[in-house]
Amino acid sequence: MQPVSFPEATDRALGTVTQRFVVAYDYAVTFTRALFDPTNPTLVDALARREPLKCHRCLVFVDDGVLAGRPDLRAEIELYAGTHADRMQLVAPVTTVPGGEVIKTELTHIERIHEAIWRHHVDRHAYVIAIGGGAVLDAVGLAAATAHRGVRHVRVPTTVLAQNDSGVGVKNAVNVYGLKNFAGTFAPPWAVLNDLDFLETLPARERVAGLAEAVKVALIRDGDFFGWLQANADALATFEREATAYMVRRSAELHLHQIAHGGDPFETGSARPLDFGHWSAHKLEGLTKHRLRHGEAVAIGIALDTRYSVLHGLLPEGADEAVAALLEHLGFALWHPALLRLDAEGEPAILLGLRDFQEHLGGELTVTLLEALGRGVEVHHIDPDLVMAAARWLKARQGD
Ligand SMILES: NC(=O)c1ccc[n+]([C@@H]2O[C@H](COP(=O)([O-])OP(=O)(O)OC[C@H]3O[C@@H](n4cnc5c(N)ncnc54)[C@H](O)[C@@H]3O)[C@@H](O)[C@H]2O)c1
Ligand SMILES: [Zn+2]
Repeated sequence: MQPVSFPEATDRALGTVTQRFVVAYDYAVTFTRALFDPTNPTLVDALARREPLKCHRCLVFVDDGVLAGRPDLRAEIELYAGTHADRMQLVAPVTTVPGGEVIKTELTHIERIHEAIWRHHVDRHAYVIAIGGGAVLDAVGLAAATAHRGVRHVRVPTTVLAQNDSGVGVKNAVNVYGLKNFAGTFAPPWAVLNDLDFLETLPARERVAGLAEAVKVALIRDGDFFGWLQANADALATFEREATAYMVRRSAELHLHQIAHGGDPFETGSARPLDFGHWSAHKLEGLTKHRLRHGEAVAIGIALDTRYSVLHGLLPEGADEAVAALLEHLGFALWHPALLRLDAEGEPAILLGLRDFQEHLGGELTVTLLEALGRGVEVHHIDPDLVMAAARWLKARQGD
């Protein structure tokens, strides 16, 4: 047989063109009240940011949970658009979409949103406005980011969690193959409009759930804010307006700062500090078939990883108790039997969350732990025995 001959290396060096460009993103996160009061210019100003003289075409989707709490909202939006008819136009009646995780788990909802975008000729200079909780923002955001490869998307977050965390960031996603956030994109919004009034109709359970992300971001980035959360735990637990407003704003600022200045806004590396406490939280959400709210699972995940940080020798004994006490003061339960549930092979099911987490991030396992209350640190190995010891600590504490 003839030996196969390959060209010399020099013959193959036909040249490489390096493509490099930088895209700058900017979007405003505005804190307001009475967003749809016709005298409030926040929305029309946001739409007109680039083209002040145009009448902007808008397709609006509203979370059904929001509408249930505020049945007049549709009429308010129509009145608002009518009052500002020279600057905005509704291309279709306000469309209701299901709130909560269901919109992220049945792909037919994405199809329906795409279909509406197509039917009403929303182009890349028109707007998709989503009003709702984090789940609705994630699903409508994904549809908006993929229709025509991205139409302008304005988010109006209506839960504590969406206002202080998920709604102000750059991601969207839906759940596929039983995996949280399997299909999604990085897509910075056109604008985020945080209207505190929306929180008034939120069920108490949802309000409490959203506080977990504020505790999370305080623990990894801002010890003073953690102290403020401790000092204002009563006011937050009773949803006092002023304390809630500050908590939402500070938490949103810290999330925004991490995204813009953390060095990896589109998460190409393996570290994800904003996901402190989330590796187990995502697994717990799945194990409980979403009976645990995201924020409730995150609170457990935070307590678990804080205790782990102590067991690992990173944090002094007692810091774990301080974090657990704050979370309980805010209204969280830190124990769930799913933490010690065994899978078919007899292994603790929660530990599979580490594998899922690593796969979702890509690369080497990177988990954020705490080296101080206010400072996160990345580690690349998690000791399963210490995780289970931390879980048993949470179980033992519930008897306290
Ligand atoms: N994209 C991201 O960066 C990011 C970050 C964190 C979390 N998330 C996602 O956010 C989702 C959780 O969001 P959430 O905690 O906002 O809850 P949610 O969106 O699941 O909403 C919870 C419930 O509250 C209702 N609701 C929403 N606003 C209301 C209001 N103002 N009044 C009355 N009822 C209202 C909804 O209909 C729903 O039934 C999860 O899917 C999570 O994965 C995304
Ligand atoms: Zn979260």
